Amino acid sequence: MNDKTATAKAHTNIALIKYWGKKDRELNLPTTSSLSLTLNEFYTITTVTEGKEDTLLINNMMQDPKRIHQFLDFLRQNVGDFPPLTVISRNMVPTSAGLASSASSFAALTAAVAKYNDWDLSEKELSRLARRGSGSATRSFFPGFAVWHEGTDDESSFAEALPATDLPIALVVCEIAGTVKKVSSSDGMMRAMTSPNYAAWVEESKQQFEEMQAAIAAKDLAKIGELAEKNALDMHALNLTATDRRFTYFNQMTQDILAKVKELRQAGFLAYATLDAGPNVKIITSQDQAETIQAKLKEAFPKLRLEIATPGPGFSYIKED
Ligand code: PMV
Repeated sequence: MNDKTATAKAHTNIALIKYWGKKDRELNLPTTSSLSLTLNEFYTITTVTEGKEDTLLINNMMQDPKRIHQFLDFLRQNVGDFPPLTVISRNMVPTSAGLASSASSFAALTAAVAKYNDWDLSEKELSRLARRGSGSATRSFFPGFAVWHEGTDDESSFAEALPATDLPIALVVCEIAGTVKKVSSSDGMMRAMTSPNYAAWVEESKQQFEEMQAAIAAKDLAKIGELAEKNALDMHALNLTATDRRFTYFNQMTQDILAKVKELRQAGFLAYATLDAGPNVKIITSQDQAETIQAKLKEAFPKLRLEIATPGPGFSYIKED
């Protein structure tokens, strides 16, 4: 067996304008374009090496390899054949708890497999391939703010970085649950698309996508927060109004933190909330207010785990010794 290895690192990202629905499940084309911020503090480092069959270890624990096996087979059939792989991931993101570990995981895996096979792929091509593993992974190759263009076919649905900006944005991440989420994002999206409000959300999202880019270019943090909060809360309202098995990712703690964020805003702080496919609230703020907001949350909810996240870099390859 070949002892060649390849290692790549990718940071996770938080969507400020969300991806929540597929117009083509086979190609994984989203119903809307989305926009995210790559986070410095949360990332995945993945090493691939030849194995007897495709296997997956995350933080030294064996995992069900079904999802990555399907993805690796997709790469074998569409880019080039390669042997079964042992995939070893170190995940510095609470796995499957709505902190989008699938974004950094599939981005790091795609890059590591490309390196392993000496495929000469552009960032755009890596992004398009990673899309087939997890939609949010398309955006995890890029530093700072990234946009994923919904596109109309495989070729036109990819992500790219927005022009670099020194915007002093920060997130206060409230880790309510480190457990595996009950409704997967794929299932959640399918259900949300049955909401009578879905088409209106898609329309509004198009507008917000444009407004968000303008707010970033204008470095208007309050506007960024306002747009992101509206987009996220409306997305979660779709889950509640789905006609197929309506549901919510929110729990009591989620509601209490959302009320606190509103209270902080009324007291003059820059604080807006966003949430993904789980109960965790991420508070969008400025770097100079992040520690105060973290302290205020800790005071109100002593048991809550809180971390501050700031804009992060694009993906990288890690050299083996
Ligand atoms: O990448 P997926 O298929 O796990 O979907 C992620 C969906 C959200 O995190 C809720 C939104 C987004 O755009 O990242």
